[in-house]
Amino acid sequence: MTSRKFRFALVLAATFLAFTCLVTAQDFKKQVIYQIVTDRFFNGNTSNDNPSQSSGLFDSTRTNWFAYWGGDLAGIQQKMSYIKGMGVTAIWISPTVDNENRNMNSSTPISAPYHGYDARDFMRVDEHFGDAGNSWTAFNNLVTAAHQNGIKVIVDWANNHSNYNGGGESGALYNNGVFMASDSNDPSSYFHHNPNISDYNDRYQLQYYALAALEDLNQENATIDSYLKTAMHQFQQHGADGFRLDAIKHVTWGWEYSLANSVFNQSPAFLYGEWYSNDQYDPLYHDAYKFANQSGISELDFGLNTAVRDVFASNNNFSEIDGTISTENSSFLWNNDLVTFFDSHDESRLLTLNNNNNRLHQAMAFLLTSRGIPVILYGDEQYLHNDTNSGNDPYDRVQMSSFNTSTTAYQLINKLATLRQNNDALGYGGFQQRWLNGDVYIYERKFFNDVVLVAINKNDSTGYAISGLDTALPAGTYPDYLTGLLSGSSLTVTAGSGGNNPANNFTLPAHTVAVWQSVGTPTAPEVGSIGPTVGQPGMTVTIAGKGFGNSNGTVMFGSTAASIKSWSDTSVTFTVPSVSNGIYQAQLKSNAGTAANTIQFTVLTAQLIPVTFTVNNASPTNPGDFIFLTGSTIELGNWGTTFDTAIGPMLDPNYPNWFLNASLPAGTQVQFKFIKIAANSAVTWENGSNHQYTVPTGGTGFVNVSWQY
Ligand code: NOJ
Ligand code: NOJ
Repeated sequence: MTSRKFRFALVLAATFLAFTCLVTAQDFKKQVIYQIVTDRFFNGNTSNDNPSQSSGLFDSTRTNWFAYWGGDLAGIQQKMSYIKGMGVTAIWISPTVDNENRNMNSSTPISAPYHGYDARDFMRVDEHFGDAGNSWTAFNNLVTAAHQNGIKVIVDWANNHSNYNGGGESGALYNNGVFMASDSNDPSSYFHHNPNISDYNDRYQLQYYALAALEDLNQENATIDSYLKTAMHQFQQHGADGFRLDAIKHVTWGWEYSLANSVFNQSPAFLYGEWYSNDQYDPLYHDAYKFANQSGISELDFGLNTAVRDVFASNNNFSEIDGTISTENSSFLWNNDLVTFFDSHDESRLLTLNNNNNRLHQAMAFLLTSRGIPVILYGDEQYLHNDTNSGNDPYDRVQMSSFNTSTTAYQLINKLATLRQNNDALGYGGFQQRWLNGDVYIYERKFFNDVVLVAINKNDSTGYAISGLDTALPAGTYPDYLTGLLSGSSLTVTAGSGGNNPANNFTLPAHTVAVWQSVGTPTAPEVGSIGPTVGQPGMTVTIAGKGFGNSNGTVMFGSTAASIKSWSDTSVTFTVPSVSNGIYQAQLKSNAGTAANTIQFTVLTAQLIPVTFTVNNASPTNPGDFIFLTGSTIELGNWGTTFDTAIGPMLDPNYPNWFLNASLPAGTQVQFKFIKIAANSAVTWENGSNHQYTVPTGGTGFVNVSWQY
């Protein structure tokens, strides 16, 4: 082979490798997600603009922000090279399922579900985004094009509700075109029919009342349970790699554990949900992180969203971000799986809050290098914003009007998304603050010997002298990885001790971001990720990291080895072995027997079935006391008696009767009891022998007992 041919072959091989790694790895920590409101992105097919079954909801003048504007799945497909060129490796697209067909207002102006959150048929693709036959063609074509470009497809998915019951189709729900129920015609109780949520801190209202008059689905009904799970499987079969779960705080929490399990049983996927708001000041913060730690569903990081907007738009001190990350990291077990964002389709854009491109660049650079999986909202890379009504919904859902690949923001995203692929500190690493004042934030990401050090000065006019900065970067001189794009320059580091190497003093100029990085060579396998984090024996799971070697080693659950399905230097796929249920520290070993760091995985007893438990006339409680459920398997907390280990808190709309839906192992006989956990953590058990129940192997279950005095 001539050297040119050889180089060409190498490039081909590398491209192929990069391509397969990107597409097959079940590792979203290394992804950068680009969020698209499909209707507002690009009109790739004008024949679906005003389909006959829902005609009149389209506004070709794009002046009514509540109407369809023509964007579609074909449009996203046609812009694939623009998306790929930005370096992002996943797209999150607004809900694509068939939405209600009528104007939600009783007369003009049009109010249409262009955003996709008013489903009528979860089994079909909406005619505005695909074709008049509601077929899968456009979705399939988009997925194929995305995968060919190494881009994963995340579908936004709303399990909470069908559609608005105050107009339009009044909540009407269909199964592949066959009518199921509507608000006024629901003989089988597919919906909850409760009032609108008025108290957003009430656990019962949140899950069982209606969210803004959206017809609230009853997931404990076996037909709805199976309908929603089957519909998600169908999207997986059509190539969806993940789902952004809408309004997970409003969907029956226990049921969602079974939903995640059902998705993972179908095929590997990444799930993250909108728990609004899971920030540390929310009264239900503990519920929010318990759910993220145990359900298998990660969450959008609303706490960091607020802090980033406060700091970069409102000029708050960097300590707000630093404090938020440190609190959240101690609450959220899988904090590198949190999905981070500063803009979304539900809030005014950063540039509306503060029309300063420097700040936008800094916020982007921060998001792309801090912990969590970053989301870039479409149009931010083009500096789009519309400030009508303070840029709130729907004015944040701007029409994508240019696809310029030379903006600084586009270049910045590309560089940092590439770094996320090449330096595992970003996807898998810890987070450490290294230098802080109101305007300057220097932090380090570190995964074994992979290090990324980032320095941000957000002040628009003042540079800061930086002294006393330590880093884990080895001694040497590091060029700015951004090659001066945001005014950074190189950094010189001298040898120190204990992982603290002193950097030379330097000045960080006004509005600067500098990124310095180094990739180490592993001496033992280094595990950075496991996905999913919970599943029963037989489920397919992927561990990712580096230095695994190219020939099969082992993955141990205690003394039991998992059966390996595929093994590469960075990713190992296996099935969960038949070990007893519980929490394990799984351990990967290389072919030579060198052990990696362990990583937690919860082995379930069997696949999960939603079961609703009611306990009548339970022990009296004072404010702050709650009844919980606990029992004999990991799904029931293995007799745990704390907020985090027992199942609950239960709900008491019919006090002193309490109820709760939980996900239990199919076909298993379980023992359980109810306990009271008082505000001061004191535990009161009900008397008598354990209750017993055999979980059904399909459908949904119901248990009704009385507290034993
Ligand atoms: C939150 C979504 O992000 C928002 O856009 C939507 O309207 C509601 N959930 C209801 O689905
Ligand atoms: C401890 C409780 O005290 C008891 O009531 C319960 O039956 C057992 N855990 C189950 O082993």
